Amino acid sequence: MPLFGRPKRYLGIDIGTASLKVVEIEDIGRRAKLSTYGSIDLPLDIIKSGAREVIVRVSDALKELIRRAGVTTDKATSALPGFSVFTTVIELPKMPEKELASAIRYEAEKYIPSPLEETVLDWEIVGETEAEITPKEGEGRKKVLMSRILLTAASKSLVSRYTEIFKNAGLDLESLETEAVALVRSLVGEDTTPLLLIDMGATATDICLVEDASPRLTRSIDIGGNAITRSIAKSLSIKPERAEQFKKDFGLKGGLAEGALEERVPQAIIAILDDIVKEIRHACNLFYNKGGRRIEKVILTGGGAKLTGLPEYLNSLLGVKVLIGNPWARVEYPEELRPLLLELGADFAAAVGLAMRNIY
Ligand SMILES: Nc1ncnc2c1ncn2[C@@H]1O[C@H](COP(=O)(O)OP(=O)(O)OP(=O)(O)O)[C@@H](O)[C@H]1O
Ligand SMILES: [Mg+2]
Repeated sequence: MPLFGRPKRYLGIDIGTASLKVVEIEDIGRRAKLSTYGSIDLPLDIIKSGAREVIVRVSDALKELIRRAGVTTDKATSALPGFSVFTTVIELPKMPEKELASAIRYEAEKYIPSPLEETVLDWEIVGETEAEITPKEGEGRKKVLMSRILLTAASKSLVSRYTEIFKNAGLDLESLETEAVALVRSLVGEDTTPLLLIDMGATATDICLVEDASPRLTRSIDIGGNAITRSIAKSLSIKPERAEQFKKDFGLKGGLAEGALEERVPQAIIAILDDIVKEIRHACNLFYNKGGRRIEKVILTGGGAKLTGLPEYLNSLLGVKVLIGNPWARVEYPEELRPLLLELGADFAAAVGLAMRNIY
């Protein structure tokens, strides 16, 4: 506890389509300490539905979650899901911030598919590079310093829906980020190697290529854990609840008894994973074509990352190291919680990254 003043605490809130997750972090002198965490199931999809009752149900669930978790602050950061935001990285000559703002707006019009007046635009300088340009005809080439800018755009109506949910829940939504930025903060930290981050949730899988610890290219596909469950249910002609259990119990390893029903689980899973792998390869090719370096590893996260045998399966197809991300690497917590927190790492990665926004 500080000698005077209140402890500085921040909430990271991840609104997923399957569950809400909260993590509360305390700033202990530019270091993060876990103060509490929790989750609550939420079988709703607020992004695809703007209905009043949905907003009310999500804020009620959020209120219930923060009550159960016993959070002590109202300062929250949340994220817009990958499929709802447009993200790109652009390069502009280095210039004063004021000029940069209008240059970015001008550039944004070329890239962003929807009208700017319906869009909330955000940008952040994520690095610097040198480029060779020919200033005028007849003049020699010269080197200029370029700023690398991460540009994000989201619809105003989506942003106002989020604002309303937090207000109804009695929380102060200080910042709304993208999930990719939050995941890089919790899972990549200061690691500068080129890598691939894969967040497999219930309804979507987000793929993010990361270089020098910042997102360079993101793609989202609407295939996730739910699609795997449906595939198992269909292939084995069983109810979704049983298929969900089979998925968690057997994953890609399948059952032990030959000829048993469980034996068909891996095939049903692979049928869906193949579409995800196609998208991963496509994203990597786009990245390489833009001059990105070869990726050296894959970090998996999201509930779907817990699928038994997934790291080995992806490793065999992609030929690089595949591991499950640990979002607690830069967080202090009681030693006795270690086994539990490591198990929950894939579930809370986004919430941890969001909660650490004011620290790292
Ligand atoms: N042990 C497990 N094996 C396989 N899948 C699992 C396991 N545990 C959870 N899942 C799956 O993870 C998914 C939920 O993941 P997560 O909590 O990341 O989703 P979400 O963030 O709410 O969804 P989204 O990001 O798509 O909006 C579900 O499809 C669930 O079946
Ligand atoms: Mg998610």
